Parts: sequence; C-alpha cells; structure tokens
Amino acid sequence: MAPASLDERLAAIAARAHDVARADARQLDDLRTELLGRKAGALTEVLRALPSLTPDERRVVGQRANQIKRELEAAIGARQDELTRGERAAAVDLTMPARTAWRGAIHPVTRVVDEICDIFRELGFARVVGPEAETEEYNFTKLNIPLDHPAADMHDTFYLKPGVVLRTHTSPVQARVMERYPPPIRVVVPGLVYRRDPWDPSHAPVFEQIEGLVVDEGVSFVDFKAAIDYFVHHFFSADTAVRFRPSFFPFTEPSAEVDVRCQMCRGSGCSTCKQTGWMEIMGAGMVHPAVFESCGIDAERNTGYAFGMGPGRIALVRYGIPDIRMLYQNDMRFLAQFAE
Ligand code: DAH
Repeated sequence: MAPASLDERLAAIAARAHDVARADARQLDDLRTELLGRKAGALTEVLRALPSLTPDERRVVGQRANQIKRELEAAIGARQDELTRGERAAAVDLTMPARTAWRGAIHPVTRVVDEICDIFRELGFARVVGPEAETEEYNFTKLNIPLDHPAADMHDTFYLKPGVVLRTHTSPVQARVMERYPPPIRVVVPGLVYRRDPWDPSHAPVFEQIEGLVVDEGVSFVDFKAAIDYFVHHFFSADTAVRFRPSFFPFTEPSAEVDVRCQMCRGSGCSTCKQTGWMEIMGAGMVHPAVFESCGIDAERNTGYAFGMGPGRIALVRYGIPDIRMLYQNDMRFLAQFAE
C-alpha cells in the first residue's frame, strides 16, 4: 500500500492529462515542466520521496509513478503533434497565387538556326561545325584574305595569341570541309563568330552565322539563286521577293549580297529597313578559284557557291525585336515569351 498522501498526489498528477489535451503550445511547454520537469516536476518530487518508504510501498508507488509518467509523455507528445498539424494547416494561404512550373524554351536564335538548317537539309545539305578558335591561316589566308586586309586588322579581330584568333566568320569551316571531303559537297555550318564590334542595338561582339557551301561539277550561279529562292520562300513566305546585288568578298567571284522584302513594312519603307524596303540577309558568291587551290580542290573540274548569313539579325526581323542585345542578356521576361 502506498501512503495516502503520495497516492493523492499521483492521482492529481494523472488528472492533469485533461489539461494536456486542451493546452496550447505555451501551456503545453509549461505543463511539461510542471509535471515532468527533471528539477522540480511534480512526478520527480514523488519519485524523490521513494527512499523514505518501505520496500513494498516503494515498489507500488514507483510502478504507478512510472506508468503515469509514460501516459503523460504520450499525451503531451500527441497534443504536440496535433498543434503542429494545426499550425501547418493554418499556414496554407488559399489566396496565394499558384506557383507556375517553369518550362524551358528554345532560344529564338537557336530556333531560327534549326529552321534554316532544316530547310537546307531538304535540299541535301549536311549540317557540320568547326572550331571557334581558329588559325589566321584558316580564318584569312586560305580564304584569299591577305593578312594586311582591313578585315584581318587588330581592330576587328580578337587575337588569342599570335597566329590564333577567335574566328570572325564561319567561312574558315569551308576550307576545313574542302580539305577533308571530296566533292560533291553540300554543307551548312551554324556557329558563333567574334568581332571587336560595339555593343549597341545592332551590334554584338559575338553572334551567330550560318555558312553554306556547295562544290560539285557544273554548279552555276543559277543553282545558287534557285537554292536561295527555295530557302527564302520556305523560311519567310512564298510571296517574299528576293534580289541579288553585286558585291565583293575576297573568297568569291562574282560576289553578291542577297536582300529580301522588308518583313516589317513589306516594302513601303520603315526604320528597320532604313526606308529601303529591303533587308540584307546574306553575303554570297561563286567560290574563288584561289580558295579551291588553297584547299586542294581541282578548280578545273569543280565549281561552287558559298554564302554566309546572320540568323540573329533574321530573328530580330522575324519576331520584331528592336535591339540585338536582347538576344544575349538572358532576361527571363524576354525569353519566356518564346516558350511554347
Ligand atoms: N564571311 C562573310 C562575313 O562574315 C559572309 C560571307 C560572304 C560568307 C560571302 C560567304 C560568302 O560564304 O560567299 O561577312
């Protein structure tokens, strides 16, 4: 038998389970200390009285005290869980806007590059790439550009070290392809090119180009015009007018620049086309025999045409983007507009 006073104290402690079940977070903390606290908790006090009891009393009181301790711990734990769950539920703000899942999108320039290469693929062109760090020899000399030509000047070209540049155009890949593969050759070469250009609405120091090269027996300027007509009518629209203007490039003879009807004003004149009604989309021409010679192609048997265009500029026109720098700033407000 336990002494009556300890019995009553234990009964009173056990009865506090009702308080535990209704406690808020702070009350629960207080109850935990008050009842189970290791220094002055009510149960601890009872256990401290055990040594003064007879062995029989000690066993009975000890067992009961330990049972009440377990029950209270369980009750406090259960109440704690309840409170935490309630807090979480209260933290759900049903008026909060839903978090949208971000989906990746193809960059507008990449999209234009892929579309252009796909159209040329229909005409039998393979897609190949070449190095961005290039020797002067491939970037200039093999393309019939003497090193004292203005284009080879330090002001236009990033030199990595003497004799090695960041390519200023994709044309050096023409030479790499001709040295590696025998005719017939039909390739398009997308890639980045680098120039010491200003960073302004119409210039960037790094931008995309797509080179085209065809080498075979009996290739003529007519074949070139047919391929470009096909490209323009499939990329822009079937009724987009194309014109070829005489021009000069060291690596082609004759050389031409290709214009299409301004996609903004359809030819009436606007700021995009500087009131001309036309937009230049590429430089081109018949491959110069000197280039064939420096790349080991028999210029007696073969002829060819080549072209180079800027898909970044084309993307500006197609999507009505006013500033080329927007293509390279990775501003999500801009890029997200191209998500499908
Ligand atoms: N490489 C020239 C440039 O960067 C573009 C070009 C013109 C490429 C005529 C060609 C070409 O292949 O035949 O401005």
